[in-house]
Amino acid sequence: MQSKTALSARFPAARPRRMRRDEFSRRLMRENGLTPADFIYPVFVLEGSGEREAVTSMPGVERLSIDLLVKEAREVAALGIPAMALFPVTPQSAKSLDAREAFNPDGLAQRAVRALKDALPDLGVITDVALDPFTTHGQDGLLDETGYVMNEATVEVLVKQAVSHAAAGADVVAPSDMMDGRIGAVRSALESAGHIHTRILAYSAKYASSFYGPFRDAVGSAANLGGGNKYTYQMDPANSDEALREVELDLNEGADMVMVKPGMPYLDIVRRVKESFGVPTFAYQVSGEYAMLKAASMNGWLDERAVVMESLLCFKRAGADGILTYFAKTAAEWLAE
Ligand code: PBG
Repeated sequence: MQSKTALSARFPAARPRRMRRDEFSRRLMRENGLTPADFIYPVFVLEGSGEREAVTSMPGVERLSIDLLVKEAREVAALGIPAMALFPVTPQSAKSLDAREAFNPDGLAQRAVRALKDALPDLGVITDVALDPFTTHGQDGLLDETGYVMNEATVEVLVKQAVSHAAAGADVVAPSDMMDGRIGAVRSALESAGHIHTRILAYSAKYASSFYGPFRDAVGSAANLGGGNKYTYQMDPANSDEALREVELDLNEGADMVMVKPGMPYLDIVRRVKESFGVPTFAYQVSGEYAMLKAASMNGWLDERAVVMESLLCFKRAGADGILTYFAKTAAEWLAE
């Protein structure tokens, strides 16, 4: 009896390190992996032609005019990335209190969609449905006299915007505004207009996050927003049950896919959503997450390739079916090596 105890103390029966010893057994037991099919590539679109501008707070990210965007899209498609998400940089002169540029059939987003679908019919095109690039105050909706974002009045404009994107050929519309009832309203308007195949990717659990800062620089809404915040419509980072409630509502209203945003600090939400609903679930590694990884890498404090691939893999482990990431193209290139 005594010798048996001594033996097992010296030789544990379970040795997890056995399976970690060699690359072949590490590969065999690997539960998750990344492929280019996991990525959605967000891009910033500029007016003009032959135009490219660096985004200062997102080193390596550029705003591109439509002609250059089409070139970029060819490379993205060739790498096996299924879709791009478009974010227009609206000239200040086209912004207004009523955000009417949002549903201009010849607006920048609508023209970009047509150009991309024309050149690359098989590449998925996702459009952002929200008013912040089009309002003079940088909020995602229309304001009442107290400065509160009005729900129904905003949804009316979002619906027009979504239908104009679908009419231009967008495969997926992605409402990122967090108004109540907008998924149902967009869905029924799309159906009525005959856009029965247009998918809805709902930003269902979108938090009022400070990690969006560099994005607001990139689309030029930061200055308009000034000291303003989005606390009356985006979610409180303290909450988790509320995210499930939002996802449930959006699914009931006709969302085909749901999204959690931001990504890395919110992977617990991704896990809960995936386990609770089992629907196509996406997560957005947002601009501030990109900026953090990039800044530390540029300083030589982190190994860029290693941390980027690890961060993306962790989204998959948490249950995400796909990841919106500014690293999509670079990561797909690394995967191809
Ligand atoms: C706008 C929108 C934002 C992002 C995507 N769509 C910013 C915001 O809500 O203020 C952020 C994306 C990022 O930070 O990368 N509705």
